[in-house]
Amino acid sequence: MGIGRRAALGVLGGGLLATTLLRSGRTRLQPGLVELAFDAAPGIGTVLGRRVPMWLYGGRFPGPLLELAEGQTLRLHFSNRLPQPTNLHFHGMHIPPTGRADNVYIQIPPGERFTYEFTPGPGTAGTYWYHPHCHELVARQMWFGLAGPIVVRGPLDAMPELAAADERLVLLRDVALEGEGLAAFTVGDWHKGKEGPHLLANGEYEPEWRMRSGTARLRLVNVANARHLRLALSDRRPMFLIALDGQFLERPVDLEELLLAPAQRAEILVPFEDGRPIELLAPHYNRGAPTPRLRNRFVLRMRPPPGASPLPLPRRLATLPGLDPAAARVVRRIDLSMFLVNGRRYRYERVDIRGRLGDLERWRVRNLGTMDHPFHLHTWPFQIHRRNGRAPAFRAWRDTVALRPGEEVELLVPFRDFAGRTLFHCHIAEHADRGMMGTIEILPDGGYLDPPPPPICFAPRGDLVPRLP
Ligand code: C2O
Ligand code: CU
Ligand code: CU
Repeated sequence: MGIGRRAALGVLGGGLLATTLLRSGRTRLQPGLVELAFDAAPGIGTVLGRRVPMWLYGGRFPGPLLELAEGQTLRLHFSNRLPQPTNLHFHGMHIPPTGRADNVYIQIPPGERFTYEFTPGPGTAGTYWYHPHCHELVARQMWFGLAGPIVVRGPLDAMPELAAADERLVLLRDVALEGEGLAAFTVGDWHKGKEGPHLLANGEYEPEWRMRSGTARLRLVNVANARHLRLALSDRRPMFLIALDGQFLERPVDLEELLLAPAQRAEILVPFEDGRPIELLAPHYNRGAPTPRLRNRFVLRMRPPPGASPLPLPRRLATLPGLDPAAARVVRRIDLSMFLVNGRRYRYERVDIRGRLGDLERWRVRNLGTMDHPFHLHTWPFQIHRRNGRAPAFRAWRDTVALRPGEEVELLVPFRDFAGRTLFHCHIAEHADRGMMGTIEILPDGGYLDPPPPPICFAPRGDLVPRLP
């Protein structure tokens, strides 16, 4: 990016602009274009009341909110002030995996910048997030603080049952402190995925919120490296699920409990029936790995406004197309085992799956390991057709599916649009960094794709833990 662009942003460079936007809580919404700038840089964060060195987007954790409407263009001037390469991945977004959009082959060396630009299309309103995707550096960059939220708004958000709710983004991750900062990586962390005993909501420990409406709409995002979250409300009150990953469901589904694997999102409505505060709880979940128990009494507490009554529940949300498994021309098997996909470790140059634009594919994904693995595909959302041979209770678009040991899910994956090369992987960040990842290439009809640029991300290089700036 040249000097001109920089000058156009005036004094609002990097962290300052990001901070301003976050205080107002919203990015500027104007027809057409949402433009902002921030960096990834060493900084000081506050974790459990202690000031610790971290790596931060726009100087804070979570990073600045990227908020835009369907059809609007996001232009994001991003600078890398880390001592190692990085980049951005816009997790779950149905945008091209090429060019300046969700292109994981963009690698930004220390001291350089890059302008990302993309336009989410109609029907993509939902909750997403961004994080680094520089192979072998992802787990450390995420653990030390790099993650931020994305909200895409659409016509459904205007329905009164949703618009009048008190809407909150809730980025959830666990932490462990050690010495002067966040705990460093141990050999065992690479095997099981790094976890800590404290769960933070938007970087805060056990926050208490005064709500402004008789119904809360929580956009829950699991940005943890490895922790799987079982979530429930105090007194086992029902919560009403309205969206999973990026997309709305057809109608609210009432649940007593929700499993949110790393990278997954869920939107829930929480009605305050009797004026009493409600806590979000995270009971222990056994994912087949020695997970430290959470010390939290609760994740967060919500106090309803006095005298408020809950909003009516929306009766209908999105209309989701059914996908016909008989129309799938290609059937694939994807076997997950420790650090391997179909018995192979990730290689940057190798293409593992070649598909064709326009095809519907059927993927049988199995977990052959002894711990849970959340399977994630970039760019193209899919539907779960069967889990262990059974049809799911309701239809949903997903980008990440959690598999327990021995489980098999059958996915229907339509490659309706966006040719290009990108990745699928286990979303335990350490597993992906260790090679539990593959490359998929969707070719346009009769098409050809350029090979990716040479890799620069691979570790070790630069500082591998944040230091005091
Ligand atoms: Cu959040 Cu490649 O993923
Ligand atoms: Cu992703
Ligand atoms: Cu895994």
